Amino acid sequence: MHLDTPVPLLVPDLPSPQELMPYLERMHASKVYSNFGPLVRELEQQLVQRFQVGNPQATAVTVSSATLGLELALVALALPPGARVLVPALTFVATATAVARAGYVPVLGDIDPESWLLTPRIAMQMRQHLAFDAVIPVATFGVPHDMQGWEEFERSTGLPVIVDAASAFGSQWLQGCNGTLVFSLHATKSLPAGEGGIVVSTREGLVDKVRQMSNFGINLKPGARVPTGVLASLGTNAKMSEYHAAVGLASLARWDACARRRRELYRCLRTALDDATDGALRWQATPSDGIAAPVLMCTRMPHAADRQRLERLCQKLKIMTRRWYQPLLGEIRGTAARWESAPTPHANAIARDLIGLPFFPSMSLLQQEAVLASVVAAITPERVRSVV
Ligand SMILES: Cc1ncc(COP(=O)(O)O)c(C=O)c1O
Repeated sequence: MHLDTPVPLLVPDLPSPQELMPYLERMHASKVYSNFGPLVRELEQQLVQRFQVGNPQATAVTVSSATLGLELALVALALPPGARVLVPALTFVATATAVARAGYVPVLGDIDPESWLLTPRIAMQMRQHLAFDAVIPVATFGVPHDMQGWEEFERSTGLPVIVDAASAFGSQWLQGCNGTLVFSLHATKSLPAGEGGIVVSTREGLVDKVRQMSNFGINLKPGARVPTGVLASLGTNAKMSEYHAAVGLASLARWDACARRRRELYRCLRTALDDATDGALRWQATPSDGIAAPVLMCTRMPHAADRQRLERLCQKLKIMTRRWYQPLLGEIRGTAARWESAPTPHANAIARDLIGLPFFPSMSLLQQEAVLASVVAAITPERVRSVV
């Protein structure tokens, strides 16, 4: 197989300059570029409308990234310094670094072997062996959590839960329950703003507190304990700029069509992979209606040796792959290695053969065929020679 150019792992799908222009014109006319300007407010309003369906208590605030959204939401919980926060062993490092930077200690837990998620049931079981004060379940690779389960967990244990839904915009909703969700608007996500995040919550005061702390800790709310404009807490600068909100609004306007394209490509590629490998690949269990806007294509190869073969082959063919979220949090040298962990047999097993394949809406047929042929060849070693 011969490809003229390398196949990238991800290609961002952002609005064109033409689609952006009306928003940029508005920003230029208002001469407001940051500090919760009209575009940020409009983006927040549009998002709140979506999240209030089924739950009128939901409020939302934009931030400069999901990482800072997680950190500030955790600080807003006002847990005692050194409080322990349960996170899954299989996640992006930012889930755990946000916990540590908020002054707390990550505690690592296992995941469900089918959904690859840290579930309320696992958290409940872990409580019998390990103490923790809050939980950050991750909507891993965009697969949403059952919010009813987490609401029930919060109610019965009294422990707060913040869902790291960085990759799950469009799939993870409050589902009519109470809860807190943090999304990423990074360029590679389905609602891209370049960089950015959203914190959605029904928890009393949480969104206001995150907003305040994203603005250095200066009080913005009339009638609060301290006058407006006065420093009320030790915050940082995590505000979303009007430039980023412009991109976010333009992305939201085209989101439905983009999500449809992502779903369609994912379905085609996955069906082709399953057919070509006689169902040898193992996939993460998703809800029956799938993921609303997939941003990654992750699968488990039949054996660790198949993954190694695929990686070597793809390297030769200049097809990019990635072992997403590896090493597992507990295997990262330095600080992370000292974080307490429950046994994580399911995360360990998945980490042995998990592979991220190229996936992006502008993927050509030739690129899809090249990925397909490489996976088949890696599983059927005698075919490797014919592909290279
Ligand atoms: C699970 C998870 N959490 C947090 C983040 C960080 O998001 P951001 O880049 O917006 O800070 C990511 C990024 O992909 C992620 O996958």
